[in-house]
Formats: sequence, structure tokens, C-alpha cells
Amino acid sequence: MNFQKICVLGLGYIGLPTASTFATHGLKVVGVDINPHVIETLRKGEIHIHEPGLRSVVGAALSSGNLSVSFQPEEAEAFLIAVPTPFYHDRHGEYEGRTYRLADMRAVSSAAEAILPHLRKGNLVILESTSPPRTTVDLVQPILERSGLKAGVDFYLCYSPERVLPGQILRELVENARVVGGITPESAEAGCALYATFVKGEIIATDATTAEMVKLMENTTRDVNIAIANEFARLAEKFGVDVWEAISLANRHPRINILNPGPGVGGHCISVDPWFLVETAPELTALIYHARLVNDGQPHFVVARVKQALGSLNGKKIAALGLAYKPDVDDLRESPAVEVVHLLQKEGAQVKAWEPFKPDANLEGIHMAPSLAAAVQDADALLLLVRHTEFTNLKPVEIASTSIARLAIDCVNGWDRDLWEPAGFQVFRLGVHP
Ligand SMILES: NC(=O)c1ccc[n+]([C@@H]2O[C@H](COP(=O)([O-])OP(=O)(O)OC[C@H]3O[C@@H](n4cnc5c(N)ncnc54)[C@H](O)[C@@H]3O)[C@@H](O)[C@H]2O)c1
Repeated sequence: MNFQKICVLGLGYIGLPTASTFATHGLKVVGVDINPHVIETLRKGEIHIHEPGLRSVVGAALSSGNLSVSFQPEEAEAFLIAVPTPFYHDRHGEYEGRTYRLADMRAVSSAAEAILPHLRKGNLVILESTSPPRTTVDLVQPILERSGLKAGVDFYLCYSPERVLPGQILRELVENARVVGGITPESAEAGCALYATFVKGEIIATDATTAEMVKLMENTTRDVNIAIANEFARLAEKFGVDVWEAISLANRHPRINILNPGPGVGGHCISVDPWFLVETAPELTALIYHARLVNDGQPHFVVARVKQALGSLNGKKIAALGLAYKPDVDDLRESPAVEVVHLLQKEGAQVKAWEPFKPDANLEGIHMAPSLAAAVQDADALLLLVRHTEFTNLKPVEIASTSIARLAIDCVNGWDRDLWEPAGFQVFRLGVHP
């Protein structure tokens, strides 16, 4: 199959790099988003998200005339759906006393509905959004078939998970192996042909539900592995062990690879996707469910540690360093660092947060400092929540000269005690008995 024109629905962290990469590889691409800020920003030739290299790829795609943006899809040979699949914050499911999250699939439904009037015989539709098992066949297919066309007969339908790493999206989009699950083998073949436009990694065909499971299994494995690291951190504190040292020693074993503990799990993938498995089969997912609870409970564990370090939280001034859900990205979604700040404030602490990748983030109830200096200046304690390079590179002597704080609480093993203590700081580290 030869593709000339495609529509990409959803121009976020996944859709925008994907649309631009197709465009810079010669396809005509209509990028579709419902958010006016996204469309207006792109129409000005600017971008609304932080991702290394993205500005120049989007710029090249727009100036070549291959990428245009719109609020509505239009006729094309292929349609890619890369819209958000969060969970509901106000609705829960329940199974034998376990309360679990429910996937909010409204964006996927409305993207499929938007394609409907433009769907023609021979078209290809690919869902890329991370979705509960069977979404492609049980949710997307029935919507598209309202066109009168039959999936797998009149048009091709696929699920292809996106597995890129934020911060490395443009490289991984091209280099990673790509799994393409079709509702029929011919659909998978059509999907593989489209991705072959730019994917240099292996492109592997399978069925749609297997492809959905692949993505959920990957992220759930990480979530469960981080949960065990977080439990190890709690155990280490109880037994007077330095968890970071213990992990590095355990990882000398050729078949062991323990991940890092931290303030919790965030982002809109790893902290969300395991719920899609719990929701669809609560009777089969006790381990996945409990791992989620461990990771979701980690911000409370951090707050208890801060309280222990400070004696009490009431009225204490804390500089929270980092709000992103992981190092060196600007993504604050479902971030445990944000939750830590909220919990500290609930206990009476006065928190100033500094997030170098999003200094002007507008988060309800959170006081953003305009600079690192403003955050640390009058703080009683420095709380390191994200291992941003900027923070691991801090010079403790310089910080000591600009801040009255002499307490440094490190949740991510980012500060070397041997440097911070001589500069006058008392250092507490998550997973290390004080
Ligand atoms: N960000 C990642 O690293 C990553 C990695 C793998 C998979 N995913 C998955 O990819 C999907 C998209 O994630 P993202 O990070 O790009 O999300 P995002 O929030 O950055 O972007 C999604 C975009 O879709 C737009 N949108 C919402 N409803 C729409 C609709 N009906 N029609 C057109 N546009 C619509 C939003 O306005 C937004 O701009 C999610 O399912 C996510 O789980 C994300």
C-alpha cells in the first residue's frame, strides 16, 4: 500500500511528533486537535510541549507545507488516533472491597466519531492511544462501522501501541520496534506498510488485542517492579539499611535488576495503564492492584519522612524541588511530586515549588517560585522530589550561601552526602534510616 495523505487526531506528546515525522518523510499530514491553544500555537509555527528536537521537526514539517493543522479531520487514506486515555477522577469500580480506577475513553470515542463522516472504502484507521484490552474491536470498530462500511472488509483497522520515552521521542519513534495489531492480517499488513514510511526498527504484525495487551503488560511490569523497590525502601528504613546501596549490590547478580524507589509513580502511562487491566478483570489482578496501592501510597510515606526530619510540619517552610513525574521532562501529569506538595500543605507546611521545566505551571493550590533562589531562600528544608540534572548538579556550598535551610531531604538519591554534609546540611534520604 502506498500512502499519500493521512490525518493524525490528537497533537500531544505522541501525536505531534508522529504527525511531523510522517510529514518530514513526504506524506501530506492533517494534524487534528480540539484544543484551540494547540492549533493556534502550531499555526504560529510554535509548539506547546517541551520535547528535545521537536521544535525543528515541527518547523520543517510546517514550512514544507506537508503538515497542516485543523480542528476537524478530512478525507485521507489513513487516520491515526493519539488522544488521551486518562482515568476518571470521580468514578470508581469495586470488586470484593477493592476500589479501582475506570478508564475515561471519551476522547477515543469522539475521535472515532470525528473520523466517521470521512471514512472511505480502502482507508486505514489505527488507534495508538493506550487502551484497555479489546478497545479496538469493542469500542472503535462499532463506531466506525456506523459508516455502513465493514472493518476488515471495507477498511483496515489496527491497534499500534506507542512505546517512546519522553525526552527521546523523536529518536525512539524511528528506531524502536513497532508492534502493529490488525483486526485481520490484511489490516496489520496495511498498518505495517504505513509505519514503514519512517520506522527503522522491526515492524511486527499481530492481532489488535495482543497489541493492546503488549503495551499494558510493559507498563504494568514497570509499575509492579517500582512497587517492590518502594517496599524495599520502607523495609530498609526499618532495618537500618541504605536501600540504594542494597539495590546496587543486589543488581550485581546477573539476573536481578531492581528499579529505583522514589516518591511514587506518575505520568499518564505507568500510573494509569495497570488500572486498565484491573478494570477489565478485577478477579485476576490482585498483584497489579496491590502494586498500584503501594505506589499511590508512596507520597504519604514521603510526607511522613519529611515530618520526621522536621519534627512537625505546621508552619514549616519547604522548598519542593521538582514537580515533574520524572527527570528532565516538563510533564506534570499524575505526578507524585505534586501530590507530596498537596499533602505537606494539608499538614500545615508552607511550600514553595520550583520546577525548572515548567516554572509557570498553573496548579491549583500550589505556590510556584519564580526561580530556584526564590524557592530556597527562606526555606527550613529543601525537598528533592525529581532527579532533574539541574538539581543533581547543584553545588551545596552555593545553596548554603543563598538559603537559610540546613536540612536536605532527598527522595531520589540525587544528592551526595559527602558533598552536602561538609557544606553544612543534614541530609535525609528516602530508603535510608536517619
Ligand atoms: N506521552 C507518552 O509518553 C506516551 C507514551 C506512550 C503512549 N501514550 C499514550 O498515547 C496517548 C496520547 O498521549 P499524549 O501524551 O500524546 O497525550 P496529550 O494529552 O499530550 O495529547 C493528546 C492531545 O489530544 C487532543 N485531543 C483530545 N481529544 C481529542 C479529539 N477527540 N480529537 C482530536 N484531538 C483530541 C488533546 O487536546 C491533546 O492535545 C495516550 O493514550 C497515552 O497513554 C503516551
